[in-house]
This record gives sequence, structure tokens and C-alpha cells, in this order.
Amino acid sequence: MFGIFKKKQEDVFEQLDTNNLPVHIGIIMDGNGRWAKKRGLPRSAGHTMGAKVLEQITRDAGHLGIKYLTVYAFSTENWSRPAEEVKALMKLMVEYLDDYRRLIGDEDICVRIIGSKEGLSEEILEKIKIVEDATKNNSAITLNIALNYGGRDEIVKSVKKIAEGVKDGSISVDEIDEKMISDNLYTNYMPDPDFIIRPSGEQRLSNFLLWQSAYSEFWYSDINWPDFTKKDLIRAIVDYQKRNRRFGGV
Ligand code: IPE
Ligand code: IPE
Ligand code: MG
Repeated sequence: MFGIFKKKQEDVFEQLDTNNLPVHIGIIMDGNGRWAKKRGLPRSAGHTMGAKVLEQITRDAGHLGIKYLTVYAFSTENWSRPAEEVKALMKLMVEYLDDYRRLIGDEDICVRIIGSKEGLSEEILEKIKIVEDATKNNSAITLNIALNYGGRDEIVKSVKKIAEGVKDGSISVDEIDEKMISDNLYTNYMPDPDFIIRPSGEQRLSNFLLWQSAYSEFWYSDINWPDFTKKDLIRAIVDYQKRNRRFGGV
């Protein structure tokens, strides 16, 4: 029986074309609450398990050769959840950011946090600085954690920065183009995501990378994030490799 299982696993690996990998993958890490509910556990247990899975998937993605992984950890809309849950999520962020070695082990992973700083505690802001600083010279894969992130909020902030430039005369209205808007987004140091994965059965963006996902390929699955494995990641990438990306051309 184990022999059959092993063979099947290898099949998925064999289908993967390592010369045609998405450079940048986005993941909407959804379904933690439902994972916990199914097991009669509090939602916070789902978040803890989800954070563990993120560690593993980041390593797996790095080993496969993915250069950028952007994961949605907390949206600007998630503040509307019950205070208890928000508190548990923030505590988890502190724990994970605190000990970056536990997060990345001795792997060559650069960790960056994208999102609004507004509303985040001094403690979290401090941990963000520490983890970014400690991993800034790592280069195999960049893990971008979208924390207090909202795509609309990000675009508004970009527009405001440009408007300031127009006001002080350093930018003329004619100079404003797509590149300028992109350059003023949190993601200005990375290419747009080629591929966006959403587990948990939902088929929506929920305000994730709105501007950047203009030509991303999407992949949905019923698996809840805490159950997501390397095999699922590979299966998703194999599907991606069958897509014909046209970017409006023929
Ligand atoms: C995703 O899991 C994690 C966050 C949004 C912080 P959810 O907490 O949304 O889990 P479900 O969707 O309720 O199952
Ligand atoms: C999106 O999931 C945000 C994160 C995964 C962090 P949500 O659970 O908040 O999205 P909706 O509410 O189902 O759209
Ligand atoms: Mg959800």
C-alpha cells in the first residue's frame, strides 16, 4: 500500500517542469478557522497550524526554485473579527517574527513584511525590523508576508505619494504612468505574481494584490490551508504549467 502511495507522489513530482516555474507565487492562506472547527478546536489552533504549514511550504518553495512567495496573513478587513481572535493572531505574529531562526531555520530565505503599519503594536513593528534586518542578505527565496495588507489601501497610498510629488512640483501629471504607480506600491522590489493559489474553497481575491494580479493565473482548491502540503504545491504548479498566458496577445 505504501508502495502505491509513493509511486503516486513521484508521479506529481515527475510532471513538474523545473525550467518553467512561476517566478512569483502568491498564496491566500485561507481556511484555518474551518480546519479547526472540523476538529472541535478553537479557531486560534487553526491559525497556529497554518503558521507551521507556512514554514514548511516556504522551505519547499525555496528548494523548488521559486524566487518570490507572497502570503496573505492578515488583511486590513480582518480587524473586524472578534477582538479575541485578532489578539490571538497578533500574538502568533509576534511569536513567529520574534524568532526568525525558527521561521526560516538555516535556510537562505529573505523575509519581508508588506502592508500598512497603522494599527500594529510597537512590539510587532520592532519584530518586523529585526526579522527583515537579520535576513536581508539571504537570496534563494524572498518570503513576503502580507500583514495588515489591503490591495485598495495600497493603491490609495501609492496615489497619495504621487499626488504629494505633483503638489510640490517634483512630478508633472503627464509623467504619471503604470510604472510610477507600481513603483509606489509595497511590492516595488518584486515582479508581479505569475500564479495565485487560494485554498479553502473560496474563489475570490479578498483584496489581495489587486493591481499586481492583472495577469496572474489563479488556482483554487478545497483543501484548508493547515492541510496544504508540498504535493499540493507541486500539483498546483503542474496545472500552472499547462496554462497559456497570452497577456492580451494571441
Ligand atoms: C485564514 O483563515 C487566516 C486569516 C484570515 C487570518 P480564516 O481564519 O479566514 O479561516 P476560515 O476562512 O474562517 O476557515
Ligand atoms: C483573506 O481571507 C485574508 C487572509 C487569508 C489573510 P478572509 O477569510 O479574510 O477572506 P474572506 O472574508 O473569506 O473574503
Ligand atoms: Mg477565511
